[in-house]
Amino acid sequence: MARTALVTGASSGIGREIARELDKRGFRVILAARREDRLRELAEELSDSRVIACDLSRREECERLYEETKAERLTVLVNNAGFGKLGRFEEIPLDDELAMIDTNVKALHILTKLFLQDFIREDRGYILNVASSAGLMPGGPLMATYYATKAYVTSLTGAIYEELKQADSSVSISALCPGPVDTEFNSVANAQFGVKSISAEYCAKRAVEGLFARQLIITPERGMGLAAKAAQLAPRRISLAITGQLQSGKQKDKE
Ligand SMILES: NC(=O)c1ccc[n+]([C@@H]2O[C@H](COP(=O)([O-])OP(=O)(O)OC[C@H]3O[C@@H](n4cnc5c(N)ncnc54)[C@H](OP(=O)(O)O)[C@@H]3O)[C@@H](O)[C@H]2O)c1
Repeated sequence: MARTALVTGASSGIGREIARELDKRGFRVILAARREDRLRELAEELSDSRVIACDLSRREECERLYEETKAERLTVLVNNAGFGKLGRFEEIPLDDELAMIDTNVKALHILTKLFLQDFIREDRGYILNVASSAGLMPGGPLMATYYATKAYVTSLTGAIYEELKQADSSVSISALCPGPVDTEFNSVANAQFGVKSISAEYCAKRAVEGLFARQLIITPERGMGLAAKAAQLAPRRISLAITGQLQSGKQKDKE
């Protein structure tokens, strides 16, 4: 019987490419996101898949996704659905930020909790939480909430990683921390990248390799991993000032 993976945010970008990568490795892939037409299009090219349209910013939809898939005894859970918004903190609409927290933080938290309990019971399974290089930085001026959501993801994932290690568990958990990736992220965030981006295909390939190599933090581009380390070592205020400078280059009106 084929092993099964669930990928959230599979209708576009990194999630779509991770689904393709897992399909290449012989997985049956459950595809989740809001845009059902996109998921069905992807499902047509995969060898064995299932589509579940859901809005993960809603707790009951996260729980429904779990209830509808738990019998499939997943081997891999990829918490990838997420988005960002660029702008000064006081200017971004509160509703947008709360939806971001619901999607980037709460949905990932709920699905990790529910599936991890099953994985631990069976002493098997892999979880890939899609964070960002933003999650390795002390903060992100002009994307304050987005950076904070991703810091939550790296912090949560690291703590669970250590708990699993201490329990001598076979269950694995990783955080994917890429820098800029060429996807629909920018059009949703109303941003442009100030530095060179990598392709979603390359990012997904490195993500899946890192996942099965049981890496805690997966940084697809070496340069970004080093930059994140430097930012962690530098005094916090200097790091924030540098990140703020880089972030201001993402504003579209600066074109
Ligand atoms: N692109 C980058 O530079 C970059 C860098 C680091 C990390 N990341 C992270 O990578 C992940 C994927 O982003 P991406 O770059 O691939 O952007 P993307 O192309 O915009 O894809 C985002 C995916 O998330 C899904 N999604 C958003 N809100 C959702 C909701 N409420 N319910 C269900 N699904 C939802 C979208 O599907 P629907 O709209 O169909 O629901 C879409 O499939 C995100 O967590 C992002 O923060 C991106």
